Amino acid sequence: MTIVRNDPAQYDALAQQWWRPRGMFAMLHWLAAARAALVPPATRPGAVLVDFGCGGGLMAPHVARLGYRHVGVDLSATALPQALAHGVAAIRGDVRAVPLADGCADVVTAGEILEHVTELPAAIAEACRLLRPGGLLVVDTLADTALSRFVAVTLAERLPGGPPPGIHDPALFVNRKVLVTECARHGVRLALRGIRPSMTGTARWLTGRVEVVRMVPVGTTSVLFQGIGRKENA
Ligand SMILES: C[S@@+](CC[C@H](N)C(=O)[O-])C[C@H]1O[C@@H](n2cnc3c(N)ncnc32)[C@H](O)[C@@H]1O
Repeated sequence: MTIVRNDPAQYDALAQQWWRPRGMFAMLHWLAAARAALVPPATRPGAVLVDFGCGGGLMAPHVARLGYRHVGVDLSATALPQALAHGVAAIRGDVRAVPLADGCADVVTAGEILEHVTELPAAIAEACRLLRPGGLLVVDTLADTALSRFVAVTLAERLPGGPPPGIHDPALFVNRKVLVTECARHGVRLALRGIRPSMTGTARWLTGRVEVVRMVPVGTTSVLFQGIGRKENA
């Protein structure tokens, strides 16, 4: 059977996997924890965190105590009810044209979504548009390098804990220069750092001793990386 890479229908076929820590989305759990660790507690009542491509809402338990209203945006009709059930105010929408007001967000996260989106600049523009001055953008995604294509597709799709086969289209992997330049154009200076799953954590996960693997910093952004930056004050 021919796999259509990055086919949105895959998320429907995999809908039962979202909340299984040993399922096909296992690594998304690890990444959600690492992403949430970059989000500081809310500094004002009513603060809003907008979660681009929230999927099943895996970040919800990690940000629940930070004091934000957690709003999710996703296209997947089967993922959204699961996000809702975990306390995310999840709305159906496209991250390239989000149905939310300018400056409504104290934090925008875009976790493992930018590498699934055609028209990357439109998604970045939307993330920056939603941020209020001083608001925080947190992203994690895959770089558009040969190494990344090898590690995240050729290798990882064959490994336990790796992404479901066909979920990524390497042609959409993210050009770091474009990401940083587009963010800067919209007033967010993004700093990048590479991350990977901890080796010992992965060994412990494989042998069933832990449910979550810690993501650790790595000296290159050429595979998996996080980005963080604040929107400049007007
Ligand atoms: C790899 S999953 C990541 C989910 C979540 N951020 C996480 O880390 O658990 C990618 C998600 O992006 C959603 N998605 C893909 N393209 C989208 C778009 N243009 N607008 C909104 N959501 C999109 C998919 O439905 C899917 O839920």
